Amino acid sequence: MSFCGGDLKSPPLFKGFQTVENHAVFMEGIVKRFPGVLANDHVDFEVKAGEVHALLGENGAGKTTLMSILAGIYRLDAGQIFINGRKVQIKSPRDAIKEGVGMIHQNFLLVNSHSVAENITLGYDRPKFFMNRREIEKEIKEIGEKFGLFVDPKAKIWQLSVGEQQRVEILKMLFRGAKILVMDEPTAVLTPQEVNELFSTLRSMAQAGHAVVFISHKLDEVMRISDRVTVLRKGKKVATLNTRDTTPNELARLMVGREVFLEVKKTDHPPGEKILQVSRLEALSDKGLPALKGINLIIHSGEILGIAGVAGNGQRELAEVICGLRPARGGKILICGKDLTSVPPRKVIEEKVAYIPEDRKGMGTVGNLSVLENLVLKDYRRSPFSSGAFLNLRQLRQHASTLVEKFQIQTPKLETPAKLLSGGNIQRLILAREISCSPKLLVAVHPTRGLDVSATESVHRMLLEQRESGAAILLISEDLDELTSLSDWLAVIYEGEIMGIVDPRKASLEDIGLMMAGKKRQTPQEAVIEA
Ligand SMILES: Nc1ncnc2c1ncn2[C@@H]1O[C@H](COP(=O)(O)OP(=O)(O)O)[C@@H](O)[C@H]1O
Ligand SMILES: [Mg+2]
Repeated sequence: MSFCGGDLKSPPLFKGFQTVENHAVFMEGIVKRFPGVLANDHVDFEVKAGEVHALLGENGAGKTTLMSILAGIYRLDAGQIFINGRKVQIKSPRDAIKEGVGMIHQNFLLVNSHSVAENITLGYDRPKFFMNRREIEKEIKEIGEKFGLFVDPKAKIWQLSVGEQQRVEILKMLFRGAKILVMDEPTAVLTPQEVNELFSTLRSMAQAGHAVVFISHKLDEVMRISDRVTVLRKGKKVATLNTRDTTPNELARLMVGREVFLEVKKTDHPPGEKILQVSRLEALSDKGLPALKGINLIIHSGEILGIAGVAGNGQRELAEVICGLRPARGGKILICGKDLTSVPPRKVIEEKVAYIPEDRKGMGTVGNLSVLENLVLKDYRRSPFSSGAFLNLRQLRQHASTLVEKFQIQTPKLETPAKLLSGGNIQRLILAREISCSPKLLVAVHPTRGLDVSATESVHRMLLEQRESGAAILLISEDLDELTSLSDWLAVIYEGEIMGIVDPRKASLEDIGLMMAGKKRQTPQEAVIEA
């Protein structure tokens, strides 16, 4: 095809050609089906060289699928792809790399026992020349310096933090000549400092003329880092906007398809009596290693204590020990003054402790049981549902259908097996069951992880309602925005120790980030929490 100015008769074609030409990536009418799902429904998506373009959408909107097509991981069912104005066929990751596309996935694909340099060159056959190790390390260092990606090329992967491993993945793509970089939800595993560093790397890549696609469902990050944003909803493209011309509220509305209330409204009230008191608590991990090393915490009635920290620093063990699911190795747990250290879970439940576990499908629900059965799992033994050996089925049904309505659990029937519900509805089911017993203490572990904006909004509302009605809440989360907006106090856990407890309204994100990375705060935590 040749387009010479004077010969052009057809304006639409000319216009189309111009549009294609001006973009590093131009994807048109992309369709991708999985069994039973239309993951991408005629999506148009374009990215310019020199911009950071956010791809925003709720879980399941089709973001990863769309970019996996560009990266050669999935084949498209319909549509076409242009790179720098040229139509391309991308049939494999190798084709994608040849076209300059590099995608950094949510889970890294590095070999732990190999060095950084070995990982970067692994499986990469640059045909033109053979570089020796020194040259490779030098080039890695140069790329690293250009984009602020500091990591020692000789270090072994297992020696690196998660943030450093992510840098290796980016370096690997840049080393292979990627000009179009796709980052799939890259901030989920990072501390706030690491997020800042990543963002300045993304910015400098864009300034160097690369095209950067930043996949996210977090509005504040999209507002902070992107030049433009494309919103996907249920497989369809909803809009592409200049970031500076939009607002978080507009983006949330586009993502969800209705008005969303982003602000968490929290009332001020003085804390009540002491509900949970944990002192010098110690416990082992599944591997038999010390997971909790002397934890001290207090939560009062009507108070939310948030636990921040990078995953795997003892959060899960802490929740399990408190709920009687893991023995304590030392220390004490008092609930309303009663010693409940290492007692069986049933005893803990009897003291009105509710538990929203991390693992919703394994611990939180019994997949093969119906919605009805799951909702009454904890109640069926007591009156009015049970008298002697008999269950009062009519009462149970009524109780369950009230909960389904109140908590807006979307299920075809009460008899539907719980495993057929979506993630958001399973979480509503667990919350409904746990909250309906009016808990004194509510232990919530990653209660909104993997949920979309609307389900998150309803979980937040329910947690605050519990706080209002006087429950003490232990909230474990990796989402700092969630923690700082909901918590009255924020404790930071690192390698099984509390690094400090701060008032989230007063503490800076930097301070919290430093504690997440293992820096202890000077103030003794007892002093703060009793204040
Ligand atoms: N490999 C796959 N097989 C079957 N279904 C898939 C596959 N990958 C994604 N899906 C489905 O496609 C839809 C879009 O998923 P995805 O692109 O991962 O969304 P996002 O990245 O926006 O969360 C979802 O309904 C998901 O369940
Ligand atoms: Mg995804």
